[in-house]
Amino acid sequence: MISDGVRTGMTLETFIMEGMLGSPAATGVFTSLLNQIGYAAKLVTSKVRRAGLANVLGATEQVNVQGERVMKLDEEANDTLLGTLRRRGHCAAVASEELEHIEHFTDDARARYVVLFDPLDGSSNIDVNISIGTIFGVLRRDEDSLQVGEKDFLKPGKELAAAGYVIYGSSTMLVLSTGREKGVHGFTYDPTVGEFLLSHENIRIPEKGSTYSINEGNFGRWTDGVKRWNAHLKAEDKADGRPYGMRYVGTLVADAHRTLLRGGVFAYPADTKSPEGKLRLLYEANPFAFLFEAAGGSATDGQRRILDVVPTKLHQRTGLVLGSKRDVELFEEFAQGKR
Ligand code: AHG
Ligand code: MN
Ligand code: MN
Repeated sequence: MISDGVRTGMTLETFIMEGMLGSPAATGVFTSLLNQIGYAAKLVTSKVRRAGLANVLGATEQVNVQGERVMKLDEEANDTLLGTLRRRGHCAAVASEELEHIEHFTDDARARYVVLFDPLDGSSNIDVNISIGTIFGVLRRDEDSLQVGEKDFLKPGKELAAAGYVIYGSSTMLVLSTGREKGVHGFTYDPTVGEFLLSHENIRIPEKGSTYSINEGNFGRWTDGVKRWNAHLKAEDKADGRPYGMRYVGTLVADAHRTLLRGGVFAYPADTKSPEGKLRLLYEANPFAFLFEAAGGSATDGQRRILDVVPTKLHQRTGLVLGSKRDVELFEEFAQGKR
């Protein structure tokens, strides 16, 4: 069935502007910033859709701060976000997976926000035509922040003003939340109109799902708790809906998107190879934790709520478990040795 948003042509831009009308104190700055992110997503999707034709597949000679090979599309997406966010004067600085340090735009007090992003998530899937994405989070600068610096980024995820992602899948979708009380909304890109249209209003994740998503090749590196949790999900128990099905794309955006819409659990726990976890707290884990909680789900590292973690480093890593409330609770019980 066609959604009301699509039928009435509710674009991302209109949706954000109408949201602003509900907050009398709003100045339009936040709205304008979110619109710039939507615009960046259009530019990136146009590159992704032509990737096999426009000589943007493959790797560059660069290795990023994480020690990973930089793909051409990583670089293109990063440049696009830098270029669009630098304009309009609302964004004081950005942090990116692809930049060792923050990129400073301006100290002007009118630039009230900073933005964090993973410009291209799922790099290993670019050249094999599997879904990839972009992840972003928006933080408000402190009122007394005269000079923007790393401190403006080292905030727990619960302080995010907005978070979202773009999935370049069978269609391109942008999923956004500006807070728990505002809900989570999905917009599908209509390339013939050149707009994101509201297709998934007020996304709510089911209380419990029937799939788990994890790189099971890491089995030997997991803690005993994670191994027992994994065995539990695979054990037959019809009344409890087990065994769970297994789905793993290897692109966080794709695995999290499916989990958000269908329920279940995604896990990339800390293990002996990545004792701090593999995924990055500021621009991968936090935006998703924010979205999942706003949709009625949860996010943990096994011991702590992700959104409470106070970061000390820009590229800090974390274990990440996202999903339906009951499925994330179950993981925590095993991880904490309660089962
Ligand atoms: P990125 O491409 O931004 O470096 O992120 C890759 C991440 C994430 O998308 C995914 O969930 C995870 O790496 C997959 O890791 P494994 O290949 O170890 O399963
Ligand atoms: Mn990533
Ligand atoms: Mn990336």
